Amino acid sequence: MTLRFGVLISGRGSNLQAIIEACAQPGYPAEIALVISNEPNAQGLVRAQNAGLTIGIIDHRSFVDRAAFETALTFALEEAGVELVCLAGFMRMLTHTFVDHWNDRLINVHPSLLPAFKGLDVHERVIAAGARFSGCTVHFVRVDMDAGPIIVQSAVPVLSHDRPEDLAARVLAFEHESLPMAIKWIAENRVQVIDGVVEISGAIGPEGGLINPSGAR
Ligand code: GRF
Repeated sequence: MTLRFGVLISGRGSNLQAIIEACAQPGYPAEIALVISNEPNAQGLVRAQNAGLTIGIIDHRSFVDRAAFETALTFALEEAGVELVCLAGFMRMLTHTFVDHWNDRLINVHPSLLPAFKGLDVHERVIAAGARFSGCTVHFVRVDMDAGPIIVQSAVPVLSHDRPEDLAARVLAFEHESLPMAIKWIAENRVQVIDGVVEISGAIGPEGGLINPSGAR
């Protein structure tokens, strides 16, 4: 059985592109039923159209309140037979009603090693803090921003002289691997949330540690 999922975007859509490419691989266990953008001019919509996907524009500005906006989102997603919702650069906060409705069926990708560096301007703040590693996190969504059970994380080094855009590019490459991986595992029914923590059947973690900077003695 192929898992049908929806993708919510607001902008560039490079994570959407990575998902589109993953879904095109033979044997990938999930398919995109619908791509919705709240921004009518999102570049990601062009990517979706080029891939022949069904798109929806649900502009939050045309609703009286968040509740009405979210009702429209859920209606469109359910009408398309969506079983999982993936936030891929979706820039609207979601309320309890939406988050609870899609509980453990709603995932997000964030460009830091959560729970560190939630929110916006992540890479600037990581560099300003002198953090040695950063990375990305794919997690189930809870109502608090950038919080929820962690499914996949990837770590990258922060290099001296990194500008925020250098670090962003290094992290983004791993977002593009991590998000399709999380969707695949969910589609394979291998992901369970137990007491607020994700367990993935058959997952093997790395054994060694990472040191950054390395080699200075
Ligand atoms: C990504 O860095 C993602 O982690 C964050 O927003 C950005 C979206 O990029 N939530 P794109 O639209 O997928 O290119």
